[in-house]
Amino acid sequence: MPYGGRMDGPALKPWIEAIHAYVPGRSEAADGTALVKLSANENPRGCSRLARAALVAPFDPARYPDPDAARLRAAIAGTHGLDPARIVCGTGSGELLHCAVQAFAGPGDEVLFPRYSFSLYPLLARKVGASPVAAEGADYGASVDGLLAAVTPRTRVVLLDNPNNPVGSWLPAGDLARLHAGLPGNVLLVVDQAYAEYLADGEDDGGLALAARHANVLVMRTFSKAFGLAGERVGWATGAPALVDALNRLRGAFNVSASGQAAALAALGDRGFVAATARENAAARIRFEAAIAALGNHGLRAIPSKANFVLVLFEGTLTAGVALAALERGGYAVRHLPGQGLGHGLRITIGTAAQMDEVAALISAAAEAAARG
Ligand SMILES: Cc1ncc(COP(=O)(O)O)c(C=O)c1O
Repeated sequence: MPYGGRMDGPALKPWIEAIHAYVPGRSEAADGTALVKLSANENPRGCSRLARAALVAPFDPARYPDPDAARLRAAIAGTHGLDPARIVCGTGSGELLHCAVQAFAGPGDEVLFPRYSFSLYPLLARKVGASPVAAEGADYGASVDGLLAAVTPRTRVVLLDNPNNPVGSWLPAGDLARLHAGLPGNVLLVVDQAYAEYLADGEDDGGLALAARHANVLVMRTFSKAFGLAGERVGWATGAPALVDALNRLRGAFNVSASGQAAALAALGDRGFVAATARENAAARIRFEAAIAALGNHGLRAIPSKANFVLVLFEGTLTAGVALAALERGGYAVRHLPGQGLGHGLRITIGTAAQMDEVAALISAAAEAAARG
């Protein structure tokens, strides 16, 4: 008998047995053909030239990076008017979301989030042995009343992506303040602002102000989306000193690479790039939403989005699965999320204007074909 006579290997914790690895957006067809990747909410403009230049600057790969990302944290603090001591950087905001859940929830606890949320959230809850709880919303978006109604004595963490992924909906400051005011003080509210840079001028959910004033609010941001640095894995969080201390205890010791720190620092210095990204994204998104609205007679609709993607619902003859296949034949990968109760929807990242016109044309042709039977 192999393995010293033992039939069994190490026993997985039962709650780990119950999870699967995170499923990332696809970038190729089943036969390996490369597709235009509109499945991971990446930036079609790439990243700032300054960030790219920082990435090719000479690094000594034999040296560990700054474990505290001090220069980057100082720059983030300067940009947002924050205290650098209350900022922690992570290997993407994904690492920090994990740390936040790990620090405050465990077996027997509940982690609450809106019914349609970032697909990582239930995995984070399960990873620490807690129960994921999905709160009912309103027309796919998050609902403050729905979230508050789902709070129980076992709730430890509320995860709110605002704007929301995969819906693209957004709760304004009044709603966020009402949510926070309705939560018990021992419940951590994580405001995940991964898509905040795509909001219009003046649209602010007030998350940073809440995190500055209260002991139970963390705000998370990422360089993966509007800054175009998904491959470098840099995110950050801010909140009360005790919360930041908890994340610092749990995060990887040298979590943000030297190149990631340098690229993020340079990217922060190029506000023009982010502004142009948001502007172009909004124009292409509005045009795409209008193209989907024109297919309303085929049972298609787009949920109005504040982010760099649109959730298109297929409620007529053309199904999301058939549209997904038609898009793939046309060279595009988008996100089908049947596992999240969205088998009738496709989340489509906003690409370039030309790509979005082609995607709309492919969907329109598929709808016509479905109508013909
Ligand atoms: C809502 C939300 N939060 C966080 C992330 C994680 O981003 P990253 O780990 O790349 O910073 C994503 C990525 O898709 C997201 O959609």
